[in-house]
Amino acid sequence: MALEVRGLTAGYGPVTVLRGVDFRAEAGQITCLMGRNGVGKSSFLKALMGLLPATAGTIALDGTPLHGLPAHEIPRHGLAYVPQGRRLFGPLTVAENLAVGGLVHGNDTATLAQVLTLFPRLRERLDQTAGTLSGGEQQMLAIARALCLRPRVLLLDEPTEGLQPSMIALIQEAILSLKAGGVAVVLVEQRVDAVLKLADRVAFMVAGQVAETMPVKGLTVDAEVFRTYVGV
Ligand SMILES: Nc1ncnc2c1ncn2[C@@H]1O[C@H](COP(=O)(O)OP(=O)(O)O)[C@@H](O)[C@H]1O
Ligand SMILES: [Mg+2]
Repeated sequence: MALEVRGLTAGYGPVTVLRGVDFRAEAGQITCLMGRNGVGKSSFLKALMGLLPATAGTIALDGTPLHGLPAHEIPRHGLAYVPQGRRLFGPLTVAENLAVGGLVHGNDTATLAQVLTLFPRLRERLDQTAGTLSGGEQQMLAIARALCLRPRVLLLDEPTEGLQPSMIALIQEAILSLKAGGVAVVLVEQRVDAVLKLADRVAFMVAGQVAETMPVKGLTVDAEVFRTYVGV
């Protein structure tokens, strides 16, 4: 199973931001997307979800074309998305937020139980309103809500940005479990140590294109590519 993107071009009104992105993500792998601010990482994930209309190029999941589908149909095909920053329904409880996430699959209890096993902290807080959770717990809830859709592909946009190290570690463990469960994870991540720890492959974006993709095995913190594409 693979998500295969070729020549994806998209933008905001007259401004083209993605200029022919080629990208591939495989089941059971974590594919990281790195690049400086403003190169189009978040826009790329939005375009995969149909939230930013593509003007050229193709998106296919296991050969099934997804480009051109309305955004509301994309989750049914197995793509789930956790946007940068958290988009929870603050006044709703944890349980209610998860119920919203599970709508596509009719809120089956087995899926919910599986998701809560991944994030035990949420199980203890099912009746708490989402707005009163800590930053890390809110991010867990955002991921958990996406997982209620039982996605084949999970798109995560900087999920540990601004979180405490202990929370980062919990979220990273959850991401590794998803990989072990065969999900194709696409992770926008800016920290080199996290990429080295989690990723199977890393795609470097420059000015709306993927400039280079490579296996992470063999890369080290001081690898030249990180200086070139991320500037660390
Ligand atoms: N809603 C928007 N309307 C217009 N331009 C946008 C919008 N969101 C992002 N952009 C522009 O698209 C470019 C890429 O942004 P983004 O995809 O957020 O980059 P990254 O996630 O790599 O930092 C930037 O020039 C940004 O200003
Ligand atoms: Mg971004």
